[in-house]
Amino acid sequence: MTTRTVRDLASTEVRGRRVLVRVDFNVPLDGAGRITDDTRIRAAVPTIRHLLKLGGRVVLCSHLGRPKGKPDPQYTLAPVAPRLAELLGAAVRFVPHVVGPEAEAATRALGDGEVCLLENTRFEPGEEKNDEGLAKAFAQLGDLYVNDAFGAAHRAHSSTAGVAQYCRPAVAGLLMQTELEYLGGALEKPKRPFIAILGGSKISGKIDVVEALLPKVDGILIGGAMACTFFRAMGLETGTSLVEPDRVEMATDLMERAAYRLTIPHDAMIAPAIAEGDKAHAVHREAIPAGEAMLDIGPDTIASYRRAIGVAKTIIWNGPMGVFETAPFDAGTKAIAEAMAEATARGATTIIGGGDSAAAVEQAGLAGQMSHVSTGGGASLEFLEGKVLPGVAVLDQVGA
Ligand code: 3PG
Repeated sequence: MTTRTVRDLASTEVRGRRVLVRVDFNVPLDGAGRITDDTRIRAAVPTIRHLLKLGGRVVLCSHLGRPKGKPDPQYTLAPVAPRLAELLGAAVRFVPHVVGPEAEAATRALGDGEVCLLENTRFEPGEEKNDEGLAKAFAQLGDLYVNDAFGAAHRAHSSTAGVAQYCRPAVAGLLMQTELEYLGGALEKPKRPFIAILGGSKISGKIDVVEALLPKVDGILIGGAMACTFFRAMGLETGTSLVEPDRVEMATDLMERAAYRLTIPHDAMIAPAIAEGDKAHAVHREAIPAGEAMLDIGPDTIASYRRAIGVAKTIIWNGPMGVFETAPFDAGTKAIAEAMAEATARGATTIIGGGDSAAAVEQAGLAGQMSHVSTGGGASLEFLEGKVLPGVAVLDQVGA
């Protein structure tokens, strides 16, 4: 069975009806309320256009930030409405209510092919508790429900999960569908060789992904500071690098079980501190001195990871290789991004997990050269861990 999507809706199911669409407009804002990255807003546009074309009346809802269950002006969704209107080329009415009579009246005032955006769902204390009353209140705002918020699909909240009990049909949007197809396709029927590149600072945050991917992949390439926990497990000096001492045993066990399928960096770019990039130099992993830290993968590792990417047919990447925000420790991450772009050009499927890796390919100007850049950080990780995403589980199934 597969999740039913907006493409499976007949126009008679949509025309003249209010479609409550949960999107993930959790976008970064600067101090003055300006949107600094509108990727997630752009990503929702195809679903909104599709529903408008079918004559739907689109009611959008989303969270923004973590306002702790009460209204907080710094987390208002108001700045998103004009940006979305620009992208859609159509008016978007901002409704300064989440649920309740005023919100419902605003949804009933919509004409066919019109759009409104409700206030931040997390201004309601019940949202993150998946409160049933709130779920019912959301259901009053739509005649059918679409979940296009892949980035929030790992959250069982009233607007992402509970509402679907009371508002049917409940189907996936086009972004949700694309995310599930790329990530699910890689896990279920990858073209081989299939490799995963996992980076970031902490092995603790990635252990479940490593466990879940090991039986499916031909190889896992490790990068980022989490490599140092593996170094420690190998009995190597790690200097002042970030190490999780309580995970060393876990790293040992993983290396034993994974054997040749797990590749740990052969060398490291080290320096006394992030601010001392002028002192950066490469050393073999067995030569990290006491007073310095690994801040990126080294050139030998870059070369060998490039070779592995060069022959792979499916590549999933999650987590930067080093301190990519600060040159020269961005070299490893940039090199992986370039190798992934080359892989896409020769026909491989390249998938970037959200969060930091998505930011890194964006920063390298290579996001458009990947097969898929996920809009979900936590959600894509949980999906790769093999977990059922609550925001997907509640949706209608084709053939059910
Ligand atoms: C994200 O940014 O990963 C999603 O919007 C989910 O946000 P959250 O971690 O605050 O639930």
